[in-house]
This record gives sequence, structure tokens and C-alpha cells, in this order.
Amino acid sequence: MTTLLHIIASARGGLSHSRQAAEATVRRLIEQDPTLTVIERDLGCTPVAHPDFQFIQASLMREAERGEPQRAALALSDALINELDAADFVMLSMPMHNFMVPSVLKAWLDYVVRLGRTFQITAAGKVGLLRDRPIRVLMACGGALGDGLTGQPDFVTPYLRYVFKTIGITDLQVLPLENLLRGATAQAATQMHFDTWCDGLSSEWLT
Ligand SMILES: Cc1cc2nc3c(=O)[nH]c(=O)nc-3n(C[C@H](O)[C@H](O)[C@H](O)COP(=O)(O)O)c2cc1C
Repeated sequence: MTTLLHIIASARGGLSHSRQAAEATVRRLIEQDPTLTVIERDLGCTPVAHPDFQFIQASLMREAERGEPQRAALALSDALINELDAADFVMLSMPMHNFMVPSVLKAWLDYVVRLGRTFQITAAGKVGLLRDRPIRVLMACGGALGDGLTGQPDFVTPYLRYVFKTIGITDLQVLPLENLLRGATAQAATQMHFDTWCDGLSSEWLT
């Protein structure tokens, strides 16, 4: 049985382009594998709180130093990590917000990228503790991506690659859905780009 975790980071519900694209992708995958189990973590509609004092203190302690209050402060983080770790495939749908990941996704990452739990620091650097698995990211942008002179630079893709690699997940691809606030013609081009990507993913899924 295959489990797909869909992490939703747009607060726009059914209006969200990234969410609609991810849901269309998931429907395609279910057509191919009706036994697929889909779990949704909807950070847009039900955001996780920003990490607080108790969580931060507890997360930086060694396990042997923790008591019941510290373990309780880590409960949400443990649940989010377990949910991610149970997934064979992760679909992340998100808007670009001010050239970065939306803050709800950053908060989720702060719970999931945890010293001693999802990564370890060694003499050779940080080592991820989770098994690798595919993560496919659909990133909705109002404008176009470019090099910073023509179009905004893409800080998100290198950031996501690095942060997921830190916890052991390297099989990450980002499809930008560009120009969504630039009129119908630009949106149609983005839709075609997405359709091609979705066909590719679904044939990859068959193999
Ligand atoms: C707070 C905020 C910041 C945004 N920042 C950017 C940005 O840096 N670059 C961009 O291309 N679009 C930006 N947008 C536009 C959104 O990325 C765009 O509307 C996208 O479609 C939203 O994703 P969604 O449709 O999945 O909700 C921003 C929108 C908001 C509300």
C-alpha cells in the first residue's frame, strides 16, 4: 500500500492554484492506483502555531534531560515528523510569498527539521535521519521567475532542496506555476506546462 502526503500551504482553499493543480495530480495518481492512501496536512486552513519557548527549549535538549513537560512540548513536532515519515510520496502545494515559502510552511519545517530526531550533527556535517522519498512541489507565483534582473530570482527551490536534504530527502523537484496574476493568456501557458508535467509524473508513477 502506498501513502501519499499532500501538504497544502495556501490559505486560499478551493481558489488556490497550487492546491487545484496538486489535487488534479492526486486524482490522476488515484486513477492509476485506486489503493493509494492520501493524507492531507492542510497548513493553509489549519496552520500550525509558530514554535514557542517550550518547544524550542525542549527541542535543543538531549532526550535524557527531558521530562514530561518537554516531551509534551515536542508532541506536535513528533506527530508531524511521523506523518511525513509514514509517506512514500509527498506532494507539496504552496504559493510563493515574498520570494520565499509561506510562513505556515516555514513553521512546519521548524517542527520537522529537528536536531537528534530528523538530523544529526557529525564531524562530517549534518546527516539526515529520514529515508529518502520523492517530494514534488507545485509552487504558484503571481509573476515570472528569472535571474533577478528580468523576473524574480527563485530562492525557494535551492532552499527546499537544502532543507529537505538536511533531513535525508533528496528526491525533490519543484514545478513553478508562473504568471498566475498576469492574465488569461499567461495562465493558459502555465496550465499547458503543468499538464505536460502531470503526464510525465503519471507515466513515471506507472513504472
Ligand atoms: C503575501 C503575498 C506575497 C506574495 N509574494 C509573491 C512573490 O514574491 N512572487 C510572486 O510571483 N507572487 C507573489 N504573490 C502572489 C501569489 O504567489 C499568487 O497569487 C499565487 O497564485 C498564490 O498561490 P495559490 O493560488 O496557490 O494560493 C504573493 C501573494 C501574497 C498574498
